[in-house]
Formats: sequence, structure tokens, C-alpha cells
Amino acid sequence: MKTTTLLAAMFVAAATSAHSAQETTAQRDARMQWWREARFGMFVHWGLYSGLAGNWNGKMVSDKGGLEWIQKLVNADTHTYAAQAIPKFLPQPGFAKAWASLAKQAGCQYVVFTTKHHEGFALHDSKMGQYDAGDLLNRDLVKEITDALHAEGLKVGFYHSVIDWHHPQYDFTRSKQLPYPEGGKQLATTPRDHNRYINFLHGQVDELISNYGKVDVLWWDYSSMDFQGDEAWHASDLMKKVRAKQPGIIMNNRLFRIPEAGFNGMGTNNVTSRMDSQYGDFVTPEQHIPATGLPGVDWETCMTLNTTWGFNEHDHKWKSSKEIIHNLVDIASKGGNYLLNIGPKGDGSIPAETTTCMSKVGKWMDKHAESIRGTTASPLGKPDFDGRLTRRGKVTYLHLFSRPESGTLSLKLSATKATMLDGGAALKFTVKDETTTLQLPDALPDPVATVIRLE
Ligand code: GLC
Repeated sequence: MKTTTLLAAMFVAAATSAHSAQETTAQRDARMQWWREARFGMFVHWGLYSGLAGNWNGKMVSDKGGLEWIQKLVNADTHTYAAQAIPKFLPQPGFAKAWASLAKQAGCQYVVFTTKHHEGFALHDSKMGQYDAGDLLNRDLVKEITDALHAEGLKVGFYHSVIDWHHPQYDFTRSKQLPYPEGGKQLATTPRDHNRYINFLHGQVDELISNYGKVDVLWWDYSSMDFQGDEAWHASDLMKKVRAKQPGIIMNNRLFRIPEAGFNGMGTNNVTSRMDSQYGDFVTPEQHIPATGLPGVDWETCMTLNTTWGFNEHDHKWKSSKEIIHNLVDIASKGGNYLLNIGPKGDGSIPAETTTCMSKVGKWMDKHAESIRGTTASPLGKPDFDGRLTRRGKVTYLHLFSRPESGTLSLKLSATKATMLDGGAALKFTVKDETTTLQLPDALPDPVATVIRLE
């Protein structure tokens, strides 16, 4: 290669690898806008484990916890697992329409679903291998789901596991911290060539971002302190390839596990308030809401509706719709997003408890979405009454979970107008020393969260 061509090639390479660094704040804000405004999304965990429903050899494995890990929980090799799970994974026609309409009805703006979980079974029709819905069911489930979501006007997110318990070249010996079903046994295998797994991983991701139209979110899962990022997944290269085909895409932080990418350790609580843009766009606290939010970074709490991500027929510890609404309000008041999980059954149908709960959340959202969507964290912080505040420009939304006995409430702001968000009835109030004191009605109209709009 001539020196000039070489220099030109090096320049192009440097320019593309610095893609995220080159993005201006204004460009990033524009790219993140819909996501920041959405506040509420639906997560879906669905794969071969869903059909097993928490059972192995006809016996219950556990009545709680992540049963999408059932292959690991029973330490089954991939062939034994597949033989038992595949016959139970029987997606009914049209299942995806029900998911999309449930998300819409609940007031979610986006849906993130598992294109492949740790078990390694891909829901799309992949040319990269045979352990996928195309080869085993003659279906492209990613297409069915994506089309149904697009038809409802929902944004589409792909969860994709970089851990793979099926691929014969996935080298589980390189991480002590990442799970592997047969990790405890001495496997009589020839040494694995992890680079071949990386080719497969990058190939499947390329299929996902090339064949299904616009993809709005890529939700990677996950890395360990001892095996992460470029070493484990050629992560920067993978992200660069994704951005080249989907320039508007938003990606989470889980290809990495370093403080600069929002992680302090292995626990789901070990999140930091740092998210350098080269590692992703948002931080992912799991199963908890950070006490004061994560100021300065985009964050999304993902959470289960009972205690498992993947369907388990024995898990009856359902959260109430009241708890979900309070969580959503709490998260919005701290400037985060709520990604709430559902775990459909092996036929794609949604458990009745889930449908009931999500519909109740939707009824509340029908009347109160204005105080959640497009709002920001309240600069006033957590109030000293049982409730939360959100903000939109000069409007403050006061969410009341219960009525203070005094029947009055004071806030450090000068209101000019106070109305019920639902129905618009005016409330009496006084303003003194930049403090507004509200006179509450004798009973709060909404038993879960009454919202008062203050201008
Ligand atoms: C964890 C689990 C996984 C689940 C995910 C959701 O990383 O391994 O089962 O999909 O969290 O956040």
C-alpha cells in the first residue's frame, strides 16, 4: 500500500472508531430524546426455558428466582437440555400481537425482548448455526415480534446474551465469574477457540441489525470483572458495526464491567454514576431503584413482576399494580426509566396475573401519563410526605400515595395554579415566602397515586 493510501485508511479507521466520541452533546441528546421521554418500557424474557416453566424431569426446580437459568440450575449439558425443552416450546400463531397490545395498553413506549438468552437458542432464523427458531420451528420469531411491535407504534429493543451455553467454541474457562452449566465438571473437550465464537456472535448480531428494519435499543447481557469488553467480545468493534447499520440505536453498558461503564463489581447493586459514551448509553440497575437516582447519567431500572425473568409456573410472588405504579413514579421522579419484565409461557401466552396487573397500570397511565412521560427529575428532591415529584418545564407534578392527616401540604415553590391532573378540578392554595401550601380534598380521588398539577 502506498504511504498516502495507508494514511488515508488510518484516518478513516480512526474517524469511525471514534464515532461515539465524535458525537456532539446536541447530537447525543437528539438520539436519546425518545428514550428519555418514554420513562416506561416492557421487558420480555422468552426462550426454551419458558416451556419448561420451572420444571425439570417433571419436578419443580424452584418456586422463585431466575428460571431462565434453569439449564444452569440443573447443570444440564446443551443436548440434554434441548431434548427436554424444545418439545415444550410451541409458539402459537399471533402470540406477538398480544404482547404488543399489552405493552401499548399498559402505557409502555418501547419493548425489549430476548433475541437469545444464555441458553444460546436464537429466536430469529439464523444462517450462522442450527440452534434457532428458523431451523427448529421453521419460524422467524424475531420478525413476528418486531412486526407486531412496529404495528402498534412501539419502539423495538433487542436483548442479546453474549454468554452462550450452547456454542461449542464459547470458552467458558476464560472467566471464573461467568456461569456455565457444566463448569463444575471436568469437561473432556478439546481446547476451545473463542475467536470462532466471536465470529458467530458478531455474525448473529449482524443478522439482527440488518434484517428487521429499525432497531431502537440493543440490550447486551452480560460481562464479568474478569472477562469483559474488548477481550471477551471484541466489544468496541461490535458496537461500531452496530452503529454503522443502525446510527440512531441506543445501547446499554453490559458489554463491559468497569467503573467507567457504570459497574463497581459483580452484584446487581454495584452501579456507578459513570457512563463514558464509548462503552454505551445507559446504566442498568437491576431489581432495585437507586436511592437518589444516578444524576448525570442515563439509567434504566429493570425489574421482574414476580421474582423470575423467564416463566416459572411455581412463582406466585406477584407485585401488586400499586407497587408497580409507585415504582414507576419513584423512578420518574429520579430521572430514570422503568423496564418492567413479563415472562410469557412456552406457547407465547401471557400469565393471567401479568395481564391483570399491566391492565391496571395502564388504567392509571391513561389518566396520568402526562406526569410521567417527558418529565424530568424534580429539582426539589424527595419530598417529606408520602409521594414523589416530577417536573416538566415550569410545571411540577405532585404524586400523592397517601393523604397527610393535616389535609395540607407545603412545597418550596411559588404556584400560580393548582389542579387535579385527572379531571382538572382546582385546588385551594396559598403562597408565602416562596412556599405553596395546598388544601387537599377530604379524600384522595385515586387510591394508588393522586396527581396534582402545579404551575
Ligand atoms: C441478569 C440475568 C438474566 C436476566 C438479566 C436481566 O443478568 O443473567 O437472566 O436476563 O439479568 O437484567
